[in-house]
Amino acid sequence: MKALILAGGSGTRLRPITHTSAKQLVPIANKPVLFYAIEAVRDAGITDVGIIIGETGDEVKAAVGDGSAWGIDVTYIEQDSPRGLAHTVIIAEPFLGDDSFVMYLGDNLVKDGITALVDSYRQSGANAQILLAHVPEPQHFGVAELKGDKVVRLVEKPKEPASDLALVGVYMFDKNIMDAVKAIKPSWRDELEITDAIQYLIDQGFQVNPHIIDGWWKDTGKIGDILEANRIMLDVLEPRCDGTVDEESELHGKVVIEEGARVINSVVRGPAIIGENSVIEHAYIGPFTSIYYDVTIRNSEVEHSVVLEKSSILDIHGRIEDSLIGQNVEITRSNRKPKAFRLMLGDSSKVDIG
Ligand code: DAU
Repeated sequence: MKALILAGGSGTRLRPITHTSAKQLVPIANKPVLFYAIEAVRDAGITDVGIIIGETGDEVKAAVGDGSAWGIDVTYIEQDSPRGLAHTVIIAEPFLGDDSFVMYLGDNLVKDGITALVDSYRQSGANAQILLAHVPEPQHFGVAELKGDKVVRLVEKPKEPASDLALVGVYMFDKNIMDAVKAIKPSWRDELEITDAIQYLIDQGFQVNPHIIDGWWKDTGKIGDILEANRIMLDVLEPRCDGTVDEESELHGKVVIEEGARVINSVVRGPAIIGENSVIEHAYIGPFTSIYYDVTIRNSEVEHSVVLEKSSILDIHGRIEDSLIGQNVEITRSNRKPKAFRLMLGDSSKVDIG
């Protein structure tokens, strides 16, 4: 069995964070979301992994390399533009051949991994297996309509969903999906939808098994989802300290201090993680916060937030909360007059001053 992990596409809903960088590399508890996908397929015993890349391909390649860090073999498959999930299967044909495979959307996070799901698919002998989850706003997903334990209809982002069962971004297929992805036509959003390809399999009488997952799962496409995913994954980290914490500082609860990080005269209340070579000085880091690498936080308070690499937050009086702060961002206080907010924000930035 092989795996096809999708790390192409464009991250429009996460702009400006993903204007120039891959949305699949946004860190959740200081680990790129894509790495969770790689670990999940590796843990399911799959070592032959194709990764779809698009315009952020160089960055994905630099982060993942040849896969040897995970003990897997990676084949990169370039997609010229995001023409849809089913299109990625078409261009992956030389890699996939006639093998069964797991297709895993690189921005999805399944907390309990996929080992049990892959095993049940292998044992079922079905042509495809789809994962479903009950969600509060199904109109943002592919939605399944079941009759008993049979899937009767799948619709991509329906205006009036027939159920609250969303398609989770992990699918298992045998070789018959190849005819299906070639048979369908582009959707209203001009993409070849995997949802339509699976509907084609159903219409042709192939066996498509639904599997409703009860564990936690998230499509990390929006800021609220990233903060939630960060909360969930921080909570399962084992506390450790590979950096330095001075005597004036206090660590409470589950806190991870990564190598080279320094905590000086500060309070870190977990669950929280401080990344490599970051400096936390005269500061407060509150629960559910991930500080990535080479970050400086001085005389400031940050809680329930994710701060990406090489950013600095200096001398800010109010507490920063519920925030996603990108790479190389500087937030500082100055004594310049007139006293004012002076901002340089990228396109589609969001600032909420309370
Ligand atoms: O997250 C689950 C949902 O994922 C499902 O419920 C939907 O049925 C499914 O269509 C998909 O919906 P999205 O609109 O959220 O998919 P998105 O465009 O975000 O793409 C998912 C991943 O696949 C993302 O990591 C980017 C990558 N991708 C996407 C497209 C369209 C590619 O690599 N190539 C592409 O052409």
